[in-house]
This record gives sequence, C-alpha cells and structure tokens, in this order.
Amino acid sequence: MGGNLVFVPECHSTNTLALQLCQQSSTPEGTVVITNNQTAGRGQRGNSWEAQPGMNLTFSIILKPVFLDLKDQFYLNIIISLGIHDYLITNKISNSHIKWPNDVMVGRKKLCGILIENQIQGSRFTNSVAGIGININQQNFNNDTATSLRIVTGTEHTLQHELEQLLQKIEARYLQLRQNAYAKIKSDYLDTLYWKNELHEFTSNGENFSGVIIGIDEAGRLSVQRNDTQEVKSFDLKEISYLQ
Ligand code: BTN
Repeated sequence: MGGNLVFVPECHSTNTLALQLCQQSSTPEGTVVITNNQTAGRGQRGNSWEAQPGMNLTFSIILKPVFLDLKDQFYLNIIISLGIHDYLITNKISNSHIKWPNDVMVGRKKLCGILIENQIQGSRFTNSVAGIGININQQNFNNDTATSLRIVTGTEHTLQHELEQLLQKIEARYLQLRQNAYAKIKSDYLDTLYWKNELHEFTSNGENFSGVIIGIDEAGRLSVQRNDTQEVKSFDLKEISYLQ
C-alpha cells in the first residue's frame, strides 16, 4: 500500500478523487491518494470532515477486494479500523477503542474517522475506496469530542512517518482478510469494541433506552440488549446513536 502515491496539495475530497482514479484500468490496487488540504471532506451519515491544512492525514486507499463476498462487506470496515487501532497500540496508546462501525477513539474522544465507498459489479466488489481522516498535529477543534495524536502524546509528529506506519498496519490486516482469517479478525474487532458489555444510553427512532452492546450480527449491524426487556436488537448505522 502506498507504492503508488498520488499527492495533491489541495482537493475537495480524496475519496472522490480516488473513486475517479478507479475508472482508469492503470490504477493499481494499493494506490494512496493524499492531500495537504481537503476542502470538502466527506464523512459518514452525510456529515463533513474538517481538518486544518497541513496538520493531519487525510487520504484514501484504493482496494480491489474481488475475493470478498458481498455479504462480508462489513469486514472492510473492520480491517481498516483494526489496522489503525494496531498502529496506535504499537505507538503505546493503550486506551484506544473502535466505536462501531469504524470510528477510532482514544478515551472518549474521536481520533480517526473512516469512510468506505464500494464499487460493485454483479455480485463482486470491483473497487473499494477506504478514506481515512486521522488527526495528527491539530490541537484545536470546533467540537470537544475530537482529539489528535499531538494532544494524546504531547509531542508533534511527522506526517510522512505516521502515514508509512499506518499503511503497514492496514496492509497486514488486509492480507489477513485475503487469507480468510475471518474468525480472528472478528474476534480482534470485538475485543476492542467501544462500550462493549457496558451499560449505556442509546437513542433509536426517537426513543431513548439503556442497554448493553453485546457484539455485531452476521451483517455487521450493532447488537444491543435492552436493559428493560432484555431483548436483543441489531441496528444499522442510521438506526442508532450513542448518548452516554
Ligand atoms: C467519519 O467519521 O464520518 C468519516 C470521515 C472520513 C474522512 C476521510 S478524510 C479522507 C477521505 N476523504 C473524504 O472525503 N473523507 C475521507
């Protein structure tokens, strides 16, 4: 990953650029599109992604997971977020968790967001663009739910060095997926899942309830056991929000 590195000083969104590059047959798997200044970064649920120019990593990896069944799509979210989590562990950041589906948290704050966009033909994936925004040196954010490596470690970091380490870790997890290590990958993901087996407040469909995250179902939906009825229900991304 990153053997073919496409650097643009500024762009709207590296995901959009990467999706365009996928249309060229000459673009190899593992191509990384990266920018210093992403002006219209896109996030999950139609949100935007803000990053101060030159302070953070905003990049997209082009994958061609032709080996993956469509039903296992969620494994892409898992391996990308696990790769980033592995990178944090290697850098001795121990209080890091993956907040379903794929936010990487340190403590209660978000360090990294991931947006995966797939291109499918028939019943196979042709291309998958994994867009990653990871806060590295930025110290001030518009909301108090974000953090950065600089804030967590107290030191400044070199973007190039961090990128190389991240790509190594993500590639290792991608290779695991290619080798069909589904059980290992899923169990590592569940081991690091934010709020798992803890009682918390959620909201779904206008109703607040307390419950416990017990895992994910076979489609990658979040399984939560309600505290009042003990009933277990699985939720899609748009169907549930975390409260406290
Ligand atoms: C989220 O947490 O909502 C996902 C944020 C993903 C942001 C990254 S930054 C690089 C890539 N390009 C984009 O437009 N979005 C992703």
